[in-house]
Amino acid sequence: MTETTAATEATEYGPDDLVEIEVEVNGTVVREKVPPRLLLSDFLRHRLRLTGTHVGCEHGVCGACTVHIDGEPARSCLTFAAQAHGHRVETVESLAAEDGTLHPVQRAFKECHALQCGFCTPGFLMSVAALIRDRDDLRTASDEEIREQIAGNICRCTGYLNIVAAVRRAAELAGETTHETTPDERG
Ligand code: FES
Ligand code: FES
Repeated sequence: MTETTAATEATEYGPDDLVEIEVEVNGTVVREKVPPRLLLSDFLRHRLRLTGTHVGCEHGVCGACTVHIDGEPARSCLTFAAQAHGHRVETVESLAAEDGTLHPVQRAFKECHALQCGFCTPGFLMSVAALIRDRDDLRTASDEEIREQIAGNICRCTGYLNIVAAVRRAAELAGETTHETTPDERG
C-alpha cells in the first residue's frame, strides 16, 4: 500500500507545483492545494482523515477504495485528487444519517453477517448503495445475477454467500424503509 504522506508531498513537489482544488466531500466543500499526482484515495485518507475508504490493490482491481463521484461509483485509487476538482465525492462515512441511523445497505450487511475482517466492506457498501438505487429489481434477482453485479468488488474472507444475501436484503430494506435517500440524494 502507498502511504502518501505530507513529507512525501513536500519533498517531491514545491509550492509552485501544487494545484488548488475544490471538492465537495460528504456535503462539505473542501479547498486544498495538492500535488498533481496525489491519488484521491490518499487525499481522502491522509488529508481529510476519511479512513473508511480502504486501499487494497491500488490498481483498480479489488474495489476496496470505491467512493461515489457525482453519485456514481468510482475507484479512488485510479483517480487523481485533482480530477475531483469541481465534483461531488461521497465516502462510506456519508452513508449513515447524522443521527446514526444506518443506510439500508449497512443494515443489510449487519443483518446478514456479510463481513468478516471488514477490509473490503466500505467498497462493497458504496458499490451496493449505488446498485440498489439504480436497480429496483434486485429483490428477486438470482444469486448469479447479483454476483455479476458485484463482480467489481473482491472479498477474500466470506465466500460471497452472505454478501449476496445482503445485497438482496438491502434492496428489500431500501424499498420499505423511510431512510430511503442515498448520500447523493441527500446532497
Ligand atoms: S485499491 Fe482501488 S481498486 Fe483496489
Ligand atoms: S470481509 Fe475480509 S476481505 Fe471481505
